[in-house]
Amino acid sequence: MATTVLHIDSSIFGGAGVSNQLGQHLIANIEARGEELNVTHRDLSVEPVPHFSAETITQIGEGKAELADTLIAELIAADVLVLAAPMYNFAIPSSLKAWFDHVARAGTTFKYTENGPVGLLKDKKVFVLTTRGGVHLGAASDTQSAYLKTMLGFLGLNDVVFIYAEGLNMSGDSREQAISKAQAEIHSHVQQLRFSEEAA
Ligand SMILES: Cc1cc2nc3c(=O)[nH]c(=O)nc-3n(C[C@H](O)[C@H](O)[C@H](O)COP(=O)(O)O)c2cc1C
Repeated sequence: MATTVLHIDSSIFGGAGVSNQLGQHLIANIEARGEELNVTHRDLSVEPVPHFSAETITQIGEGKAELADTLIAELIAADVLVLAAPMYNFAIPSSLKAWFDHVARAGTTFKYTENGPVGLLKDKKVFVLTTRGGVHLGAASDTQSAYLKTMLGFLGLNDVVFIYAEGLNMSGDSREQAISKAQAEIHSHVQQLRFSEEAA
C-alpha cells in the first residue's frame, strides 16, 4: 500500500526557499527507500490560503467551506505530514498560520470534552523542517517550536520530529553547515521510519 504524504511549503521564496529544498530532500530520501508514495504538495506561496474569517465560519456552518474541507481531507488522508516552516519575524509564516486556522475544526480534527480538548487526528508521523537566518533553538525567541508542538498536539499529532537549519544568514560557512546537518538528520530519521507494511 502506498504511503500518503502531505507536503506543505510556506516559504515566500517558493522553490528557492531552503525549507522547500529540505522538504524535497526528505521526500527524495523516503523514495530512495523504495517506498511507493502518494504525495500531495501544497505550496502556500503559490496557492495562498486566505485569512480565516467570520465568513469562513458561516461557510462551515452552511457546509460550503470548500477550501477548508479540502485542506482537512488532505490532512486526514496523510500518513506522513511534512511541514516546511521558515522563521519569519520569530514565528511561522502567516500563510502557514492560515492553513492551521482552516484545518482546526471542532468535531472533525479536534473535539471538546469535559476534560478539555482532544485531538482527533491519529497515526501520523510529522516532520517539521524549520529554517532560520539566526540561531534561536532553546531561546525565548523560538516561538515556533512551542507553537507548533501545541498546535499539532491539539489536533492529536504527537509524533513530531523537528529538524532545524539555523544560522542560514550568518557569516562564514554557517549556511552550508546548517543545511548539511539538517540533511543528515533527515536521512537518519527517514532510515528509522516504519511503513505500514513493515509494521503489520
Ligand atoms: C520576512 C522575513 C522575516 C525573517 N525573520 C527572521 C527571524 O525572525 N529570525 C531569523 O532567524 N531569521 C529570520 N528571517 C530569515 C529566514 O528565516 C531565513 O532566510 C530562512 O532561510 C528562510 O527560510 P526559507 O529560505 O525556506 O524561506 C526572516 C526572513 C524573512 C524574509
